[in-house]
Formats: sequence, structure tokens, C-alpha cells
Amino acid sequence: YKRVTVKSLVEMKANGEKISMLTAYDFTMAKILDGSGIDVLLVGDSASNVMAGHETTLPITLDQMIYHASSVVRAIERCLVVVDLPFGSYQSDPKEALRSAIRIMKESGGHSIKLEGGKEVKESIKRILNAGIPVMGHLGLTPQSIYKFGTYTVRAKEEEEAEKLMEDALMLERIGCFALVLEKVPASLAKKVADALTIPVIGIGAGNGVDGQVLVTHDMIGMTHEFNPRFLRRYLDLYKDMTGAFENYISDVKSGDFPSEKEQY
Ligand code: KIV
Ligand code: NA
Repeated sequence: YKRVTVKSLVEMKANGEKISMLTAYDFTMAKILDGSGIDVLLVGDSASNVMAGHETTLPITLDQMIYHASSVVRAIERCLVVVDLPFGSYQSDPKEALRSAIRIMKESGGHSIKLEGGKEVKESIKRILNAGIPVMGHLGLTPQSIYKFGTYTVRAKEEEEAEKLMEDALMLERIGCFALVLEKVPASLAKKVADALTIPVIGIGAGNGVDGQVLVTHDMIGMTHEFNPRFLRRYLDLYKDMTGAFENYISDVKSGDFPSEKEQY
């Protein structure tokens, strides 16, 4: 195998090869994903929702992100690992942002970080890049600012917000980000951004005109089942299959069917 690097992602875009990315928060899932040939694993702060059951991504801490990221890193042999900087670990000033990014790199072994926002976080991104830490940007729907927007609806439908997004995207490329996530924006705008940039644009709910796709793994394998946005394609209905398996186990225990003769010493 050949390891995926931030350089290979830029080359993949140049060669017209789409980039596959999914989330992982733990060792066992990361091992399956890496073995399946995924290009990029994102240790997303969506762990706050998916792993911890919080309503938003705001509560997850830097220590908790490092725990998830180190579990993922121990499992992988090939893919690139991107770790989200959580809310509160980079917004107050560039020095704090760099300290947080360094902690992730040293304590988890992740290969790069992602953070949300455009020109508001420009100086922080520059600091982190100057330390040699690759940065992935994230524009459009940015869940860490959910209380500013109030909803999880599509972003940048109006001209003004679309123009700001394009400016931010160009700036992120100019200062040296290696890739950019665009979340829940019109497909036409996402394509325009991807066409304007040489770094890859990875979309979620951003249409097919971008350079790669990301989904939350637990959503695409159907372990979560109350979250049904239009952009989500479910490849399994694990909620149903797992419930069936658990029900069978419970019934086998209750009936005394499990363990059988062959399943004991
Ligand atoms: O935390 C996350 O899962 C993300 C992806 C949805 C891009 O940031
Ligand atoms: Na995230």
C-alpha cells in the first residue's frame, strides 16, 4: 500500500480522481474503514453528537478529541487522518489555536487538523500552517456556529453569502490550506468553488461538482436513523439489523438456547 498524504490529495484532484472521506471516532471502525480503502478519515467533532449524544458539536473538549483521534490513528495503515479542532480550542487567539493543534499532533498522532471558518480565523490558520501542521478548511454550514445561524438549513443561497464564501475559499487556498470541506451549500456554488481552486474541495450536501465526498459513517451505514437529510445516502440499515440481532440474542438467553453444547467448555 501507499500512504495517502496531503500531497496525494492535491494530485488526485489534478488527475481527476475523486476523494473518498468518512468519519471515524474509534479503533474498530477505523480499522474496517482503512482496510476498505478509504482515502481520508475525519475524526470529526460530530463525535459530540454520534458518540456522546450531545445536541450540538459545541460541548466536545480537546482532550476528548485527542482520545478519539489516538484510537483512530492506532488502527490505520494507509489513509490520511484529519482531526477537527473543537469549539473553544482555537477561536480566542492564534496562539491558543496553535497550542491546540500542536496538542492534537503530539498526543494523537493525527496527520492534519480541520477548523471551521474563513477570514475570522485566518491568522490562526496561518500560525498553525507556519508550524508545519497541514490544515483543512470548512465553509458553508459550520455547526460550531449553529447558535449564530439558528438552523441547519442550506447556506449561501443568497448572492452576498455566496460571494463571501468564494472569497474565503480563495483565501484559504492562498494561505496554504491543503483542502476544504463545503457543507450544505448549493451544488452550483460548490462546483464554482471547486473549479476556482487547485486544492481539493470535499463536499457534504454540496453536490457532485466537487472533488470528493464526506459523510458521517454512522449515518451512511444506518446506525443513526432519525437524521434524514436529502444529501444522505444510506448503504446499510444497521439500526434494523442490529436491533434484530440484539432481539435474537435476548430471546436466546431467555429461552436457554444460548449457549449450546458447542458453545461451552
Ligand atoms: O464533524 C464532522 O463530522 C464534519 C463533517 C460533517 C465534515 O465536520
Ligand atoms: Na466537524
